[in-house]
Amino acid sequence: MKVSIAGAGFYGSTLAQRVAEAGYAGEVVLTDIVEGKPQGIALDLMQSRPLAGFETRVVGSNGYEATAGSDICVITAGLPRKPGMSRMDLLEVNARIVGDVTRRLVEASPGAVLIVVSNPLDEMTALAAAVSELPKERVMGQAGLLDSARFRHFVAERLGVPTHEVLAITLGSHGETMVPVPSLATVGGQPLTEVLDQATIDEIVQRTRDGGAEIVVLLKTGSAYFAPAAAAETMVRAVAENTNEVHPVSAWVDGAYGIAGVYLGVPARLGRGGVQEVVEVDLDAGELAALRTAAEAVRGKQQEALGLLA
Ligand code: NAI
Ligand code: 2OP
Repeated sequence: MKVSIAGAGFYGSTLAQRVAEAGYAGEVVLTDIVEGKPQGIALDLMQSRPLAGFETRVVGSNGYEATAGSDICVITAGLPRKPGMSRMDLLEVNARIVGDVTRRLVEASPGAVLIVVSNPLDEMTALAAAVSELPKERVMGQAGLLDSARFRHFVAERLGVPTHEVLAITLGSHGETMVPVPSLATVGGQPLTEVLDQATIDEIVQRTRDGGAEIVVLLKTGSAYFAPAAAAETMVRAVAENTNEVHPVSAWVDGAYGIAGVYLGVPARLGRGGVQEVVEVDLDAGELAALRTAAEAVRGKQQEALGLLA
């Protein structure tokens, strides 16, 4: 199993560490435009092997030759936002970067599954799918797993329970029209709506929506990467190990939930070929309406992103 990661910044390097340490990949390749950066990170990670206990080879490069024949490629290249910026403010600059990186990755690895993380996420995923011309099921974006992890963390903190007891998903866009789904959330098997009052749930839902911005304000110079890298690693593992797990990801939706022709955060079954199916869960009327609103919002922006390629 060979995994390539474009962009050796905070997200890419943390993801490389997580994948390398997990041990299912024989090789992890990091590529970046900054000379020496991916090579330095790769050497550092290789030197951690005797202590961290893994044998994955990590290679750094400023080109794409070393990525050839990858099974999975993750795109983290691009600018992160600064305080006061929305993810959408990155649309133009990251469209150019993600377009170029996608082209070069897929030229070297035409059989790969592509996982996009660069922001604005749903738009960059649509753009990568268009540029790569890969079957839509082999291109997906990471956002829902991260947003869901934030939701689960906030609930667990509020109730003082282990995070693994809290099950919850977040759908829709990775932005203003994110759709956390309290109606399906459970804590130790009990519905969330029975263990927390509505005002507290509303507060947690809003904090989840603002989860990325809260960290941008604290960091001042970039955005989150530990939880985001854990989310992308979960997707890489699901594909690498053909787990058939259902995770919330940005996937091509063409009919499910009465929505068609757009990349959107939905539950999807993941395996070796990428997205095996979009899974339709029972949403309440408000959540379904919010998901459809999110679809229309990202549809317009995805068309705008594709227009930037012309
Ligand atoms: P960073 O600034 O630390 O790293 C970005 C890296 O991309 C830099 O090393 C830069 O040299 C590289 N890069 C720029 N242009 C490139 C090109 N043409 N080819 C190859 N590499 C190139 O930023 P960070 O924190 O790693 O974030 C990366 C992206 O991930 C941002 O767009 C950020 O908004 C996004 N992100 C997405 C999340 C999600 O849930 N989908 C969560 C967190 C971040
Ligand atoms: C996040 O949610 C900025 O998208 C990034 O942390």
